[in-house]
Amino acid sequence: MSLRKTCLISFFFFFFFLIPSLIQLTNADPRVEIVYKECRKDHAQNMSQYLESYSKVVNDIQEQMQRNKFGFAAAGESPNRLYVLSQCLDDLSNEECATCFTDIRTVFPGCFPSTGGRVYLDGCFIRGENYSFYREALSPLDYKICSDVQDDSKSFNNLARSLISELIKRVPKNNNYADGHENSLNESVCAMANCLRTLDENSCSSCLKNAAKSALACLPSTEGRVLNAGCFLRYADYGFVNNPKIHAVQDAVFSFAVYVIVAIVVCLMAIAVGIFVGRIVYERLNRQQQSNLSALDIDSSLFKRSLNFNYSTLEKATEYFSEANKLGQGGYGEVFKGTLADGREIAVKRLFIRGENHTQDVYNEMDVISRAEHKNLVRLLGCSITSRASLLVYEFLVNKSLDCTLFGKLSKLK
Ligand SMILES: *[C@@H]1O[C@H](CO)[C@@H](O)[C@H](O)[C@H]1NC(C)=O
Ligand SMILES: *[C@@H]1O[C@H](CO)[C@@H](O)[C@H](O)[C@H]1NC(C)=O
Ligand SMILES: *[C@@H]1O[C@H](CO)[C@@H](O)[C@H](O)[C@H]1NC(C)=O
Repeated sequence: MSLRKTCLISFFFFFFFLIPSLIQLTNADPRVEIVYKECRKDHAQNMSQYLESYSKVVNDIQEQMQRNKFGFAAAGESPNRLYVLSQCLDDLSNEECATCFTDIRTVFPGCFPSTGGRVYLDGCFIRGENYSFYREALSPLDYKICSDVQDDSKSFNNLARSLISELIKRVPKNNNYADGHENSLNESVCAMANCLRTLDENSCSSCLKNAAKSALACLPSTEGRVLNAGCFLRYADYGFVNNPKIHAVQDAVFSFAVYVIVAIVVCLMAIAVGIFVGRIVYERLNRQQQSNLSALDIDSSLFKRSLNFNYSTLEKATEYFSEANKLGQGGYGEVFKGTLADGREIAVKRLFIRGENHTQDVYNEMDVISRAEHKNLVRLLGCSITSRASLLVYEFLVNKSLDCTLFGKLSKLK
């Protein structure tokens, strides 16, 4: 695979899978519409101290919300000590919850200079007071909102009744949260109930019993919400839950997809870098080799065809360049007959070339021969170039005048 292709594929993955996936994640619904806001009638005695406390407290709670979808904190000196608690409805994801709190923390100060109040957004709520209210299940400020649209049908009212009473039984044993929906032939009801995290099972249960009574009093309205100090209850004839189970599955699928995509991208990047670096190194080596070769003035194809012989192999083949094996001598060197271990007969030319250009001259000689390979010319089998000697190895041709072939024609070629 070419470097350009690899890079293209990496970027393709990056732009067409990873980025849209990330955008999808931010495409959450923190449900920040204001549902209800109620402020205390009495005023704080020292407002500047109260505001100072508020800014401390919300920063603390913001962190808790991201982690737990719930948070509380207090700051300041009595009688100006401020207690604040916030919680998201549990169908929100942690990210949605943090976003909802970012919104609601700016709405709450609208109650100042009151000593406190409550704000309900669609997805989260906040309450602040100059006393500790964390375990309150019910209060005189509890409130319900019923829609103007009504559905008088018996089936809708029966569905709502059965769903709500079933739901409030589940909540205290289900981490203080439950949602559900019921359908008949042409009707459907969706409901959700959530207790404060600070309430125990009994307080949650009694808060919800009160809330259910209020909600059922909303019927036949098609929608109702109950905002008690310690719990929240909502029903409607349409779906409004950010299904946390679907969320969990989506999150799992999403993180798996991200994991796989990141792994693929990293792999492709690694391959791309590998190819890139490999190519640079290869090209550099190639260039170096080429410059070495050109310094020796040698056709690189020669190397592909030639074979290096061990000096000792040739020594043995020619019986240590014995006089008995000497075939002749010319201007460039002596020629010996040799026999390789495998029985092949060879002619070894020992060059007289010496001095600084020694190696270059040998290669030049080889180059000329290899280029001039010809029916009438002996075939060059290889060479052995060491500090001791420069040896060229040829095919041994019995019926031809070696002297002529090796010295006459080569000299002419040169
Ligand atoms: C309000 O509290 C601040 C300290 O937070 C203090 O400096 C200031 O004097 C107080 N004001 C009154 C009117 O008590
Ligand atoms: C809360 O504020 C009100 C009005 O300023 C005050 O009367 C009351 O004592 C305060 N409560 C506490 C517990 O400080
Ligand atoms: C559903 O059907 C019942 C009768 O079976 C009817 O009274 C009711 O109005 C219908 N509701 C809707 C929303 O169409």
